[in-house]
Amino acid sequence: MSVLDSTNPYRPGAGISPPVLAGRDVLLGEFAGVVHEVAAGREGQRPWVITGTRGVGKTVLLLEMLQRAHDAGWVTAHVEAGPPGSLAAGLTRALYIPLRQAAGRGRAAQERGERGAGAALRRLLAVFSAFKFTVDSGGKLTFGVDVDPAAAVELSGDLGTDLHQLLRSLGEWAREDGSPVLLTIDELDAATPEDLNGLNKALHLLGHEDLPVPVQVVAAGQPSLPGILARANAYAERLYVFRHIGALDGAAAAVALAAPAAHLGVTWAPDAVSLAISESWGVPFFLQSIGRFAWQLRDAATITRADAAAAAELAFADAEGLFLARWERSTAAQQALVGALAALGGEAALGDVAARLGRTPASLARVRADLVASGVVEVPAPGRLTFTLPGFAEFVAGRSVSG
Ligand SMILES: Nc1ncnc2c1ncn2[C@@H]1O[C@H](COP(=O)(O)OP(=O)(O)OP(=O)(O)O)[C@@H](O)[C@H]1O
Ligand SMILES: [Mg+2]
Repeated sequence: MSVLDSTNPYRPGAGISPPVLAGRDVLLGEFAGVVHEVAAGREGQRPWVITGTRGVGKTVLLLEMLQRAHDAGWVTAHVEAGPPGSLAAGLTRALYIPLRQAAGRGRAAQERGERGAGAALRRLLAVFSAFKFTVDSGGKLTFGVDVDPAAAVELSGDLGTDLHQLLRSLGEWAREDGSPVLLTIDELDAATPEDLNGLNKALHLLGHEDLPVPVQVVAAGQPSLPGILARANAYAERLYVFRHIGALDGAAAAVALAAPAAHLGVTWAPDAVSLAISESWGVPFFLQSIGRFAWQLRDAATITRADAAAAAELAFADAEGLFLARWERSTAAQQALVGALAALGGEAALGDVAARLGRTPASLARVRADLVASGVVEVPAPGRLTFTLPGFAEFVAGRSVSG
């Protein structure tokens, strides 16, 4: 089977939507409720923050929400908060297309002799232009329409206040226009402390408007994100609705594996599915990766247990870069704990890990907390530790053997 097999339905990668988005129905159902409430002019919900470890499916969940909101007639914008750009720069880029389209519609209406852009749109374009000027003083992104000088806006220079003005005028336009706005912000944990502080402040102010504005914000990031937000502003803990997403349960993982193949007339043998699930721990990235290799390895219309076993080996070998990045980002103290946990088979009591390092469990509390926050390990039961990614224990153990 060629590597270039174009029918291969599996999509391992970062932010690449899977053929079947499995196991997120509860969260998406809740999101549908928010879409409904906001569209009905009700308050909607506080901004959402979705957390989860690498490869668990945060980005594709945001993409799905954007699609659903778009299908419901919403205006949507998606921002990546991490470097190299600032949050403000990302936001102006994300809003540019929808606002330019709105400006164009306003102009066309005027040319047809109808009422042109409404007051809220003119104000939004003016605020946006002023805001954009603070991040792009060269003015590369223009609207091809003159911004109403009467609506000219002076910004304060404080990111939080200015961002609030922008989001509020966005909301007022959305209300005038009748289409709510969904703003998604990915990788928020990678934003600078100044940007996080500005965003917190802006959303805090937005939450205190007399009339709720139809703007829903959904952000995503690593499990460290709630702590990072709270360090930027203590009130952040109450500002957001936090939702953690984990690996898929057995039933959802089976759907993620089997459904894409079934659509193309290929069946997974039941014991192949169970092997792939136990090897991947239900982590979506590994399900896609194992699926992709198993598809290539099969020589009939059935994927066998042997195909799945070989596919898992290939998937872990393929993930070395991911494992290495994770290892190299860890401090020496974190590597020591990770090494001890790997030597104990990847899941152990914290007491046993400490004993192996000749330490007390209490003295490891800080290192352990940092590893949990960065998503390298998690706590499956009180006093126990496990890795979040399958194959990582073997990778780490292999490193210590080879020195
Ligand atoms: N619910 C799901 N069902 C099936 N496959 C999924 C699901 N969620 C994500 N995937 C697949 O898992 C992989 C990782 O998804 P994604 O990039 O969204 O993860 P992430 O949480 O954003 O990771 P990172 O922290 O690295 O940004 C992709 O290949 C995607 O297609
Ligand atoms: Mg992502």
